[in-house]
Amino acid sequence: MTELIKNLIGGKWEESGSGTFESINPAHTSETVGRVVKSGNAEVDRAVRAASEASRAWRLTPAPRRGEILFRAAEILVRRKQELGELMTREMGKVLPEALGDVQEAIDMAYYMAGEGRRLQGETVPSELADKDCRSVRVPIGVCALITPWNFPIAIPAWKLMPALVAGNTVVFKPSSDTPVCATRLVEVLAEAGIPEGVLNLVHGKGEDTGEYLTGRPDIDGVSFTGSTAVGEGVAQKCAAMGKKVSCEMGGKNAIIVMDDAVLELAVEGALWGGFGTSGQRCTAASRVIVHEAVYARFLEMFTRAASRLNLGSGLRKETDVGPLINSSQMEKVLGYIEIGKKEGAELLTGGKAYREGECAGGYFIEPTIFAGVTPTMRIAREEIFGPVVSVLKAKDLDEAIHIANDTRYGLVSAIYTQDVNRSAIAERELDTGIVYVNASTIGAEIQLPFGGTKKSGFGFKEAGGRGGALDMFTRWKIIYRDFSGKLQKAQIDK
Ligand code: UN1
Repeated sequence: MTELIKNLIGGKWEESGSGTFESINPAHTSETVGRVVKSGNAEVDRAVRAASEASRAWRLTPAPRRGEILFRAAEILVRRKQELGELMTREMGKVLPEALGDVQEAIDMAYYMAGEGRRLQGETVPSELADKDCRSVRVPIGVCALITPWNFPIAIPAWKLMPALVAGNTVVFKPSSDTPVCATRLVEVLAEAGIPEGVLNLVHGKGEDTGEYLTGRPDIDGVSFTGSTAVGEGVAQKCAAMGKKVSCEMGGKNAIIVMDDAVLELAVEGALWGGFGTSGQRCTAASRVIVHEAVYARFLEMFTRAASRLNLGSGLRKETDVGPLINSSQMEKVLGYIEIGKKEGAELLTGGKAYREGECAGGYFIEPTIFAGVTPTMRIAREEIFGPVVSVLKAKDLDEAIHIANDTRYGLVSAIYTQDVNRSAIAERELDTGIVYVNASTIGAEIQLPFGGTKKSGFGFKEAGGRGGALDMFTRWKIIYRDFSGKLQKAQIDK
């Protein structure tokens, strides 16, 4: 019998809600991975109340103790990595090595944020007055709503949960309705590791109702959202109007630049991995490749040959390179963009259709697709497709390549392949993206530095670790002046 996936509210796993929905395997749509409780407003209200009630005790728990719980969660995740990876491949479709990488990213984040329990540093600076001290401390923001997408079913929730919790916030977590089982397993791990009742609450449901209602609750102090730009902009506006802290990670139209001096084999591998890894369903996917005219023909030949050899199928099979898309609406959207590309006059070099051979007949598969002769004004060069479709554009020199790369409303990631240190330096300086890679693909961000984009790719605080990372989202600075002189001292005026 299919397992019922429940909400966690105030430490209790609850079956009640307004009906249920199903999570299905996108590689074999006849397989149901879980039946999931759908939350109504009443469940969301209770989850927010439970988080508010648990807030004071958790805030007063020493941060190193909070960190130790995350450390234990990391240890459990290490033990369960294989099982969780396999579950993820079944629920979301990405190939098993990538799914294991997704779990590993959560493990990395849990260990990293566990260590923050003993840091969370502020500043101590000298006072201009005698017998007075001045310092800044990080304090939690309160109750946080965390809204996560399906493409990284465990990693992205961990990016948000680990820093929110170590910083002393309580949480209401609303994962994607396409990957609720993975999210629930992560919450179970945190509960088993010792997160107290009410500190971490889980509500399942669709973004447009459960997510929307949750973020609009007045007693939510901060919202961390990852998803589409259209939804993220709405979240950001609502948060601004209500005075909530907000972090939105949104779309991308990331480009790889391939210069005439690049090691072409490496650039082809990078374009394959960036374009077709996770079936192109990453906000960091390389959906554009901008190639120097001197190597354009040769690059296309190598890239097309390699892409046409990729194996589609269930991500649980060793020989599979590319898994399915997440659901039927994504499938239709991507096929729609392929039609748009053809109509716009781009040259279809490989792929271009749904793949229904053999075992793929029962899933959402699309062949790895390459368009050449794409110009910067075409929609396939401008709009986020979120599928296995790569647009290749030609540039006459570095300047033009950088101009094309930056000519987009998005700005998450960019990459350049070159052996020339001067060209690399110019690209690093001029590419207007949150992350720049040199001689590497657009995917592979590590958790110990911030993650986020410019323009329509990101709004508000960034994610992950390092200076300017997620702790800035999940804490406020409090400035403390302590005067122990026993008399009235006046800054500035006493001089
Ligand atoms: C995303 O695509 O939503 O760099 C996140 C990467 C991963 C994270 C991607 N570490 O591609």
